[in-house]
Amino acid sequence: MNKDVLAFVDEQLEELKTNKLYNDIRVLESSQGSWVTIDGKEKLNMCSNNYLGLAADGDLVRAACEATEKYGVGPGAVRTIAGTMSIHGELEKTLAEFKGREASVVLQSGFNANLAVIPLLVGPDDLIYSDELNHASIIDGCRLSRAKIRVFGHLDMEHLEQLLKEDSDHEGRKLIISDGVFSMDGDLGNMPAIADLAERYGCVSMVDDAHGEGVLGSHGRGIVDHYGLGERIDVEVGTLSKALGCVGGFVAGDARLIEYIKQRGRPFLFSSSLTPAEAAANLAAVRKLWEKDELVTRLWENAEYFQKGLRDLGFDTGRTETPITPVIIGDAGVSSEFSRRLFEADIFAQSIGFPTVPQGKARIRVMISAAHSREDLDFALKTFAEVGRELEII
Ligand SMILES: Cc1ncc(COP(=O)(O)O)c(C=O)c1O
Repeated sequence: MNKDVLAFVDEQLEELKTNKLYNDIRVLESSQGSWVTIDGKEKLNMCSNNYLGLAADGDLVRAACEATEKYGVGPGAVRTIAGTMSIHGELEKTLAEFKGREASVVLQSGFNANLAVIPLLVGPDDLIYSDELNHASIIDGCRLSRAKIRVFGHLDMEHLEQLLKEDSDHEGRKLIISDGVFSMDGDLGNMPAIADLAERYGCVSMVDDAHGEGVLGSHGRGIVDHYGLGERIDVEVGTLSKALGCVGGFVAGDARLIEYIKQRGRPFLFSSSLTPAEAAANLAAVRKLWEKDELVTRLWENAEYFQKGLRDLGFDTGRTETPITPVIIGDAGVSSEFSRRLFEADIFAQSIGFPTVPQGKARIRVMISAAHSREDLDFALKTFAEVGRELEII
């Protein structure tokens, strides 16, 4: 028999194309800077998470090269088997100090950090309270734990408290989890209320601050610092793949928990670590933030300037409280056309539609960076205005 057992994949891909959900991945011929080269042409980059412009920063590149010379390119195996390189330990110690936490452990990505920690905090007899808009990696970490997942309405603290009251007789452990910054809208998790509720109802509290690291708080220490919550949020997950410019994820918090992740966290035990170059570049990024917060200040100045410009033009920027700038268009087809016309005018800004955002809420998500100059932002505002008028959005 000669049956094509993978024929269903063609159907799935076709369906994605029909529903305009197929991702055409752009190929970059340059580093991630404020401008990138695509098909030999310079495009203003308004989609990367390179908030501070560190992705191609000279100090980080040098640190990566020096670490490669010293330690080679690969970690050899998982850290529990082949040993851990001193550069990884140095990164974890520095990161913990920077964040003001007892200890930290570094994983291969923010995604893996969630998969490592959540199943260690709760198991099949336990409960998780998760915001309905939490990131896919939180959702997957929760599913892997096999705990019962109670989803509360987005930022709806009354709903969360109602669920906690309903479960007051529950004997197992309870975990409340929220994104720090919600990546499609740029709004903030209500971490002060979550800390209060966690304390009142005896829950572990956890934030995944992927888009807050390097962006919020003093010197970019993140949302817990932004709200002055200290250790009232038990577990902080973060990523090194966005504002910090390189790649990787981490968990910071109580030293016992960090030790437990090193003993039992599955992505730690069964997957090799960051390369020495990545560890060194991340370390250089943390040190840079610690020394000066001028990049963080510039990022916020750029975001405020650009968002005000868009609102003055009549665009709807939703409920953002951060440099993430949604330009809400509504119809997915119009939003894709908007993005296409921007690209023709040398602006790279992607359209995002259902199911990543609700039906009828398609948008261009603009990511502002400290690396953007005033001229870049003025050029973008002028182009958004032209395309917005052509498509009768403003
Ligand atoms: C909340 C959240 N967690 C985790 C991640 C994944 O981070 P990484 O790219 O380091 O795996 C993201 C990235 O989109 C995110 O927004």
